[in-house]
Amino acid sequence: MGVVVRAEKLHKTFGTLEVLKGVDLDVQEGERIAILGKSGSGKSTFLRCLNFMEMPSSGRVYFDGAPVGTSQAELCRLRINVGMVFQSLNLFPHMTAMGNVMEALVSVKGMTKAQARAIASEQLGRVDMLSKSESYPINLSGGQQQRVAIARALAMEPRVLLLDEPTSSLDPELVGEVLKVINALAARKMTMVLVTHELGFAYHFASRVIFLHDGRILEQGTPDQVLKNPAEKRTQEFLTGFNEFSF
Ligand SMILES: Nc1ncnc2c1ncn2[C@@H]1O[C@H](COP(=O)(O)OP(=O)(O)O)[C@@H](O)[C@H]1O
Ligand SMILES: [Mg+2]
Repeated sequence: MGVVVRAEKLHKTFGTLEVLKGVDLDVQEGERIAILGKSGSGKSTFLRCLNFMEMPSSGRVYFDGAPVGTSQAELCRLRINVGMVFQSLNLFPHMTAMGNVMEALVSVKGMTKAQARAIASEQLGRVDMLSKSESYPINLSGGQQQRVAIARALAMEPRVLLLDEPTSSLDPELVGEVLKVINALAARKMTMVLVTHELGFAYHFASRVIFLHDGRILEQGTPDQVLKNPAEKRTQEFLTGFNEFSF
């Protein structure tokens, strides 16, 4: 066990808007962190800064104990190791499910197409999408697209998977199949950081829950601490806003 990714005093400003106001986080190997917070509190920005899809304005990110610099080689290594799944628009529309999963294996990892296809088949099988491997995203449901997106991220064998509201753009009946895949990853001890509004899922999924408020970590702890006995008034107010809060 060790710290896989560390964020230290992360700040991010867009123009005059200060979105992250000093966020510190250690992600331990095997941890499953759920990040909660109101819309606009900086959750997506934080995840994007963790894998340098956004450049932090200040602060540092460490991967495996070493600070991540800004050379292309270091950023490439970080992005391979810190996979990401977004809320929507995950897949390349002009590629099949198989093509989507193979793409970075060939272009980033330099595999042959045969090697990439073998790995992609295995990953698509794990999310139960092998039978749709030659389908284009437009012919897949939102839930199926997200499962392919997860397969694509996992194909790179990341050390950490970041998931930014992976179910929030889905029709309610499709949420379950994606959460099931995420649960299966948890069972395999995948290290994950999940931004979600599915509080019931977060309660069972997470080893640690973090409440982000106004660009800062306001409160964190076990699911019982944060979701059932929050110490902070802002956390209490946030949770009260969810009327379907039952677990
Ligand atoms: N690229 C950007 N340029 C300008 N403002 C941005 C950008 N990305 C996010 N923001 C702003 O930063 C704030 C936090 O956004 P975000 O991290 O997406 O919040 P959350 O994911 O918690 O809803 C919002 O006010 C948003 O409008
Ligand atoms: Mg967001």
